[in-house]
Amino acid sequence: MKSDRAPINFTVNGALMSVTAAPMRRLSSVLRDDLRLTGTKVGCDAGDCGACTVLMDGEPVCACLLPMASVEGTSIRTVEGLGNGSLSALQASFLAHGAAQCGICTPALLVTASALLERTPQPSEQQVQDALGGVLCRCTGYRKIVEAVMEAWRWNDDSAAAPHPPAGTVSPPAGGRQMVATLTPPSPRLRGEGKGDGQFTLPLSGAAVGSSPVRLDGIPKVTGAELFGGDSFPADALSVLVVRSPHHRASFSFGDLGAYIADNAGVAAVFTARDIPGINSFGVIPPFADQPALAEGETRFRGEAVALVACDGWAARDLDMAAFPVTWRELPAMLEPPGAQAEGAALVHANRPDNLLVRGLVERGEPENALAQAACVVSGSMQTSYVEHAYIEPEAGYAFLDDDTLTIVACTQAPHMDRDDTARILGLAPDKVRIVPTATGGGFGSKIDISLQPLIGLVALKTGRAAALAYTRQESMASTTKRHPASMRATIGTDADGMISGMLFDGTFNTGAYASFGPTVANRVPVHASGPYATPNYRAVARAIHTNGPVSGAFRGFGVPQATLMQETLYDELADKLGIDRLQFRLKNALRNGSETVTGQRLEAGVGIGECLEALASHWTRALSEADAFNATNSATKRGVGIASCWYGCGNTSLPNPSTIKLGISPDGKVVLHQGAVDIGQGSNTVIAQIAADALGLPLGDFVLKGADTSMTPDAGKTSASRQTYVSGKAAEKAARALRDTVLRYANVSNEASLQLLQGGLLVVHEGGERRRIDLTQLETDKDGLAFAAEESYDPPTTPLDAKGQGKPYAVYGYGAQIAELEVDLALGTVRLVRITAAHDVGKAINPLLAEGQIEGGIAQGIGMALMEEYIPGRTENLHDYLIPTIGDVPPIETILVEVPDPEGPFGAKGLGEHVLIPTAPAILNAIRHATGATMTRVPATPSRVLSAIQEARR
Ligand code: FES
Repeated sequence: MKSDRAPINFTVNGALMSVTAAPMRRLSSVLRDDLRLTGTKVGCDAGDCGACTVLMDGEPVCACLLPMASVEGTSIRTVEGLGNGSLSALQASFLAHGAAQCGICTPALLVTASALLERTPQPSEQQVQDALGGVLCRCTGYRKIVEAVMEAWRWNDDSAAAPHPPAGTVSPPAGGRQMVATLTPPSPRLRGEGKGDGQFTLPLSGAAVGSSPVRLDGIPKVTGAELFGGDSFPADALSVLVVRSPHHRASFSFGDLGAYIADNAGVAAVFTARDIPGINSFGVIPPFADQPALAEGETRFRGEAVALVACDGWAARDLDMAAFPVTWRELPAMLEPPGAQAEGAALVHANRPDNLLVRGLVERGEPENALAQAACVVSGSMQTSYVEHAYIEPEAGYAFLDDDTLTIVACTQAPHMDRDDTARILGLAPDKVRIVPTATGGGFGSKIDISLQPLIGLVALKTGRAAALAYTRQESMASTTKRHPASMRATIGTDADGMISGMLFDGTFNTGAYASFGPTVANRVPVHASGPYATPNYRAVARAIHTNGPVSGAFRGFGVPQATLMQETLYDELADKLGIDRLQFRLKNALRNGSETVTGQRLEAGVGIGECLEALASHWTRALSEADAFNATNSATKRGVGIASCWYGCGNTSLPNPSTIKLGISPDGKVVLHQGAVDIGQGSNTVIAQIAADALGLPLGDFVLKGADTSMTPDAGKTSASRQTYVSGKAAEKAARALRDTVLRYANVSNEASLQLLQGGLLVVHEGGERRRIDLTQLETDKDGLAFAAEESYDPPTTPLDAKGQGKPYAVYGYGAQIAELEVDLALGTVRLVRITAAHDVGKAINPLLAEGQIEGGIAQGIGMALMEEYIPGRTENLHDYLIPTIGDVPPIETILVEVPDPEGPFGAKGLGEHVLIPTAPAILNAIRHATGATMTRVPATPSRVLSAIQEARR
């Protein structure tokens, strides 16, 4: 291979390059590894995701497919070359529209769109969709991307000269990510401040809560400077490869590992479970920890890791992993709960009889009696599939020893949990493991569980060298967690007036080979299976059952999206049977202030489901009448309209869930916010700073963020369960108010005083006509170099659930409802989405633009779950066979932000991230039924399933 290497000459971003490379080596590898242009991402290495898109002679190409032999003499343009030192109009437009969330897809979208805009400066929506169809985004739902490209021309004025921010700086931890905060430009569409000439005022002062400043970590996302898990590997790091089980279940033994090392030049070491110095078991819920970092003797699912191969330099590239000395003996496997629960079925874990991990129950009143006396009763079943998170960034990171501290720089949603699990596996004290999160290119729940952290940590610990690993797309999909497939049945009854009188729900959730968040799903589902409706008599049971399938874990909603499919589709049947309008039926039964939930929790205030449904009422009427008009003139295609609601308790279910936030004022006159709530694209860097700014009474422009780092920032908990805005935001609010009190006390003024930071380290306190000047440079500082500081924690006030599931599982709930409009081709069973209208009660929209982005992104994932996503182990372990929505699959989305303040949330805010996905799929299924009369009882509703349901309905 090496003898083929030859100089290849080409230009990159206008600079002449000569790279000696093998002719078949991919351009993506040369750009990233040799030229360190890591703005070009690799999401699949197969041309499926488009994250590696660059321009070759002005045309978009996938750099991961392009052999270097074909690059000779060409001109390559990457994201780093878009702005020529300042932001291009397109980059500025992306920032202003909130078109980048995690940002991993953003470079590819930008270069692809820039080619379009060179040809067509003001493209139509269709032209944008056609041009960007090859680049996948899992976060945004694409709508803001479309807007940003269509409106880029607004920034294309000489006087705009691309807004030049940075107004603040996020301090990167050593070896960690670089983030630069900026507070400009605001969105002209949202704020109405655009002057048409590209000039915008900067929202550096005034109320931060309720405004939509550009996200503080936005600039690196649009310049390619943001460093994700695989973007900063040390040049001398060992490359780690993982040997994984090719079978759903197998025993295995190793051959001569020493001979393998000796026979393969470049292989520095091999490690197996025998090398693990600590407890070879991890899990997100410590009492259920059961998953080995490296399996011992038997693997329980396809893709489970058994050994590590550490290679020098480029050796990993050419290594034949098929020659690794491992002998497999395939064993009978159970992939579905019925097999795992059959009499005599093998136990996946010897200590869990019947392969039952956890059974969750909520029971209230007398549901059987209520159903027996009900005027109207419906029953049904629903089945859902494994759903893959399909974040565009496969897991990646590196580890190294810093004196006696193992430092791991990797993408994650939960740095402190990573630290504790990794320390236990490697036999280290927790304070001898430091987790430095990189930017995380999407997570959606799966990156809460550890993946590569103990693997690269083991190699670094044993060899004393840096160790790096980036999962391939296939191993990411095969080895990490999925959404639980569910098999559910339910019966719901009403009285003659259409008031819900009773409900029975029974769900079996395939939790796969290991526990992960199976207990959470089993406990959360029964609490939520009623939907946000008063249900006086109720019993819901959910079981998490072990199989030899992939590990099911956290995925946006923790089982609630599955349960809501069951409940909301039955609600449509009930409404139809009763002859009540479907929206009105939901409104009639909606929880209100003062209602009791199925766990007996009295909701005193902040219940916004009624307001959400009311906000949709005019859209519902319009959509129904448009559907009627359409159907009157079309026979081959029918239009349908569906509605569904959601509620979701924010944070852990009846368990401690604290966040701690520290902030202070530095001698140079900056507010330093230790922001440990990992921002995986959802916007916590910005939202938590906005809350802190208003609670403290200083403008956002004075803020500097210190990103998550377990050695530096307090534990703000994991990014999951829609808890960061509410829980960490509340901690930030408390800490900021405490800091304000400290300063006011120091200045001996009342709470009416206002604060002002001036250059040179002056803090000015104004009260009445008086001004007191505090010279910050003359004050003593704490260990973090802060002249004034405060640290506060917040833990939601919940109570444990009793044996019947009664109690207060959550302190705050969020609510929402969505309408889906679609057309079904009756001959083909294909579904075309026309529009989604979403009303979500967020309590207080801390940042309306980011809230909209969450809603649009969640809806896109709900569309995938409803219509196309089905992970089948061994068959859909890539982004070619596993389909997620593309830019053409997401219809226009109208978002209505409802603000019913919650007394507990910071500034009244509630969580949002999980809620937004929950109503989409049931609204789509209800729209299919409205269009065709066909009742879908399985998702995804692929064309063949829709067609057979239509045929069934006609019988
Ligand atoms: Fe597109 Fe995250 S912003 S994948």
